[in-house]
Amino acid sequence: MYAVTGASGQLGRLVIEALLGRIEPGKIVALVRDPARVADLSARGVIVRAFDYDEAGTLAPALAGVERLLLISSSEVGKRVAQHAAVIEAAKTAGVSAIAYTSILRADSSPLGLAVEHRATEAAIRASGMPYALLRNGWYIENYTMSAAASIEHGAVIGSTGEGRISAAARRDYAEAAARVLTDAAMTSQVYELAGDESFTLADYAAALATASGRPVTYVNMSEAAYREALEGIGLPGPLAAILAESSATAAGGALFDDGHELSALIGRATTPLATVVRETLR
Ligand SMILES: NC(=O)c1ccc[n+]([C@@H]2O[C@H](COP(=O)([O-])OP(=O)(O)OC[C@H]3O[C@@H](n4cnc5c(N)ncnc54)[C@H](OP(=O)(O)O)[C@@H]3O)[C@@H](O)[C@H]2O)c1
Repeated sequence: MYAVTGASGQLGRLVIEALLGRIEPGKIVALVRDPARVADLSARGVIVRAFDYDEAGTLAPALAGVERLLLISSSEVGKRVAQHAAVIEAAKTAGVSAIAYTSILRADSSPLGLAVEHRATEAAIRASGMPYALLRNGWYIENYTMSAAASIEHGAVIGSTGEGRISAAARRDYAEAAARVLTDAAMTSQVYELAGDESFTLADYAAALATASGRPVTYVNMSEAAYREALEGIGLPGPLAAILAESSATAAGGALFDDGHELSALIGRATTPLATVVRETLR
């Protein structure tokens, strides 16, 4: 059986869909905090089990019979090292034969603050002795398009990335890669650096919004501090605004650029273009 944590999340749901296209539902285990949120998956024959990273004692029993596990990194930044360690420990206890983990692009050397918890998790996976696959995902295109409507309304994309190029890819492309690795790869402790085929600056992204909407949209570059304040001003909690502003500023130096094309090689097709995700978002 193939199990996926965070299966009620945005990436997790896409991984389950990709798995459903490859293997029968009875071999898929969706691990979720709240099973009621994935009643649709149970109805389709997917096995659903409760799995809360903060309930360490309940995790190993929930992994009974699982051969391969995909640990989708938790969204609770700051708590992730302990949460992931609990999952890795449980996987070992339950006899899981291999573990895949959604890490961050070049986790070993990335200057992004977000990379710290991923590095610690990768180290814990290596220390566990279990065979692994590290899926070092780059940025999601959706990190930008989630606020496309507001950017078009105000005629501005804001950030601190300057001329930095970002090799973002659509969530669904990372999901497909994860499903393929889980079901097909040897999983003998590989590292995959995954990113989009195309790279773009935030000015390019603003131009893509303008083209798709027919309205003027330009990129406004700000200092990290001003961007953080702007994010807080639109209601983001302080710690989240700080992480996003730090990531945006650090990306100016190329931390989210990659031209290795490992993602398209893994999924057997070009990654979804930025313009396609923008058009779909505005539809
Ligand atoms: N590469 C990127 O650009 C990028 C951007 C954002 C995030 N990420 C990382 O990638 C992960 C997946 O992205 P996403 O878009 O799918 O995020 P998401 O929609 O926020 O999903 C996060 C998942 O983590 C689960 N989770 C959080 N705390 C948990 C806990 N204590 N026990 C069990 N599950 C828990 C959530 O469960 P519920 O469904 O119950 O809330 C949810 O299913 C994120 O969690 C984050 O680590 C990457």
